[in-house]
Amino acid sequence: MPSNWTSLVASLCLLLAAAQAAVIVPGATWTDTSGNVIQAHGGGILKVGSTYYWHGEDKAHNSGLFRAVSCYSSADLVSWTRQTDSLKPISGTMISTSNIVERPKVLFNTKNSEYVMWFHSDSSNYGSAMVGVATSKTPCGPYTYKASWKPLGAESRDMGIFKDDDGTAYLLYASDNNQNFKISRLDADYYNVTTQVNVLSGSTLESPGIIKRNGVYYLFASHTTGWDPNPNKYFRATSLSGTWSSQADIAPSATRTYFSQNAFDLPLGSDGIYMGDRWRPSLLGSSRYVWYPLSWSSGNPQIVHADVWNVNLAAGTYTVTTGTTYEAESGTISGSAVSMSSSSFSGGKGVGFLGNGGSLTINNIQGNGLGQWIALYYANGDSTWRNTTVSVNGGESVLVDQPNTGGGSVVLSVPVKLNLRSGSNSITFSAGQSNYAADLDKIVVYTGN
Ligand SMILES: *[C@@H]1O[C@H](CO)[C@@H](O)[C@H](O)[C@H]1NC(C)=O
Ligand SMILES: *[C@@H]1O[C@H](CO)[C@@H](O)[C@H](O)[C@H]1NC(C)=O
Repeated sequence: MPSNWTSLVASLCLLLAAAQAAVIVPGATWTDTSGNVIQAHGGGILKVGSTYYWHGEDKAHNSGLFRAVSCYSSADLVSWTRQTDSLKPISGTMISTSNIVERPKVLFNTKNSEYVMWFHSDSSNYGSAMVGVATSKTPCGPYTYKASWKPLGAESRDMGIFKDDDGTAYLLYASDNNQNFKISRLDADYYNVTTQVNVLSGSTLESPGIIKRNGVYYLFASHTTGWDPNPNKYFRATSLSGTWSSQADIAPSATRTYFSQNAFDLPLGSDGIYMGDRWRPSLLGSSRYVWYPLSWSSGNPQIVHADVWNVNLAAGTYTVTTGTTYEAESGTISGSAVSMSSSSFSGGKGVGFLGNGGSLTINNIQGNGLGQWIALYYANGDSTWRNTTVSVNGGESVLVDQPNTGGGSVVLSVPVKLNLRSGSNSITFSAGQSNYAADLDKIVVYTGN
């Protein structure tokens, strides 16, 4: 082969790898450009020029107590570089290491050429119910802490911020013991709230975000079930002062928003991106990010479930990657594992009693030798998480967590990246583990990585 042909092939492979690198995989362990797990829970996105900044809670210490508001930057929403921490604990204040700083959201104030961060500021038992504000001249800061207080004298817990087209900004917050959800206007500096513009009384909403589309406001929020997921909702209104439409689901309710809670909602062309957290209270730093396209194709916002997808930021569009399905029941069932019927499983069948002596091998899985995302579709009706070992071609196994799905007939998917060889592969599930794994419906093998 002529050497210029070889180098052309090499460049094409690099291009392909680069193009494939930009996928979003909800629920996977996301790492930054230094290879560290991204710690930006309950976060928010700020766009400055063509750069995206992601501020969030650093929970690497697996605690709810304040450690830092982190800051990451990205040009593509996929590759994130950790920058200086935006907010650090200050002893003797409401942002000490024995207090709570959650859901940081940053907006740019044009009048003062200043970045203003709002966050849920609380004591360790969530009894103080305040907002906090900090300011900086740069997107990542570090920010200077100003104060924590109860907006308009009322409680504020899980909150968000919305900046309207005219530059007016609003605090969106769970108030009055999380019973009433309020929207209050900020002052021209974004330092305080001035007027309550709306209250959804008795709505028990939290963790809100708003996307404005064609002059209509879409409010997204979860209900209040602690760290547990619930069916997140949307509301529609032509004014922030209401009247809001009655609540409607953004995803099939049984999935409890695909085991996630809204953190931020980002416009993407005429659609959007739902950015949620998959909280894991027993190991908070291992809580995952669950981002999906939000599509208005039905006229109202709905999450588009996608195991692997990518955004075209220039075009304002998204693409859902399609994969190849292999049914669990078509594999070789060993030990105490059994084929089982369930109308919620694809093909009406799956494999149960995996683990604790039962295992499954799916054969003839086509791989490309480049490292591939595989989604495991499973049901776990327990109130706690399960997990399964996964081994490729008899090699070393990896453990994949299987969060409770909210019912034995509710199917969710979790991703795992595996090195399949080019051609045919066998993948074995749940061998050599003493605990039961979840019931397996199918796996989907993707080629984008
Ligand atoms: C916010 O405004 C209220 C008056 O509505 C005032 O009592 C409070 O001190 C202000 N808070 C801060 C931090 O400026
Ligand atoms: C795997 O799941 C079992 C419960 O089924 C749990 O006891 C165990 O701690 C989990 N393993 C890990 C490493 O999380």
